Amino acid sequence: MAADYTATPFVGRTFGVTVSNLTKKFGNVTVLNNVSLEVRPGEIFCIMGPSGSGKSVLLKHIAGLERATSGEVRIGEHDAADPETRTKVHLALVFQAGALFSSLSVYDNLALYPREHKLCGEAGIRERVMHALSILSLEKAAQKFPSELSGGMKKRVAIARALVMEPQLLLYDEPTSELDPVMGATISEIIATLREQTAVTSIVVTHDRDLALSIGDRVAIIMDGRIRATGKAEEFRAPKDPAIANFLTPVIDLKNPRFKQLENNNE
Ligand SMILES: Nc1ncnc2c1ncn2[C@@H]1O[C@H](COP(=O)(O)OP(=O)(O)OP(=O)(O)O)[C@@H](O)[C@H]1O
Ligand SMILES: [Mg+2]
Repeated sequence: MAADYTATPFVGRTFGVTVSNLTKKFGNVTVLNNVSLEVRPGEIFCIMGPSGSGKSVLLKHIAGLERATSGEVRIGEHDAADPETRTKVHLALVFQAGALFSSLSVYDNLALYPREHKLCGEAGIRERVMHALSILSLEKAAQKFPSELSGGMKKRVAIARALVMEPQLLLYDEPTSELDPVMGATISEIIATLREQTAVTSIVVTHDRDLALSIGDRVAIIMDGRIRATGKAEEFRAPKDPAIANFLTPVIDLKNPRFKQLENNNE
């Protein structure tokens, strides 16, 4: 990872995010239940929680991709649900599954946004795209198509694509899943360095305890669609709440395996 990723230019100001009494129902199912939290400008805020607890749905509300049943999300003074907000705030979401266009090469996936928004000419776009690819050690993959990439490479391409958008607010959904431990650590370093160099606000949904506790300023734990706890990352090193301790550092118990408990619960 020799590339210099300190020179990535970002524009304008940075934004905080306020989630107020957000409730989301899909049919009769309540997925987010009165969620409130405040992310400060320039902060790395990590959201952790069990699978299915509502993390991705929460992130999509912040990105303006879902409509709340009640409550609201504000990015600075702007309503996240207002399509106009995307013209005022440079926001990039790194999707959990990458969400790359399969018919476009890696290069064209990255070039799409600056081309559509006419941010600069082709030479400028090439410079931006190759810079972002070099940050993630992907220069050799520029002409490949998504189907030719490993899961971890797709994840890195999705992050590179977000960098090309020069965001003021970066939303990551599981940025280190599917990566080997070294690449996971590298991604964590990139997230932290970008924030340090550019004061970009970063919201990171993750199952990666090491990432959250090493680079997160603050962490929120979401369980069953509710915020269970919010605090400084170090407060979660030895959590007192047994549910959080069991989630963050589960003990493998072969005498009383969890899948047997799941079977009993379903009976
Ligand atoms: N569009 C949708 N329609 C109906 N239900 C949905 C929809 N999107 C999400 N859900 C449900 O909302 C719940 C929370 O989903 P979400 O994707 O936010 O979980 P998550 O915390 O991100 O889980 P994971 O860690 O596995 O990614 C799940 O029960 C899911 O089935
Ligand atoms: Mg998810």
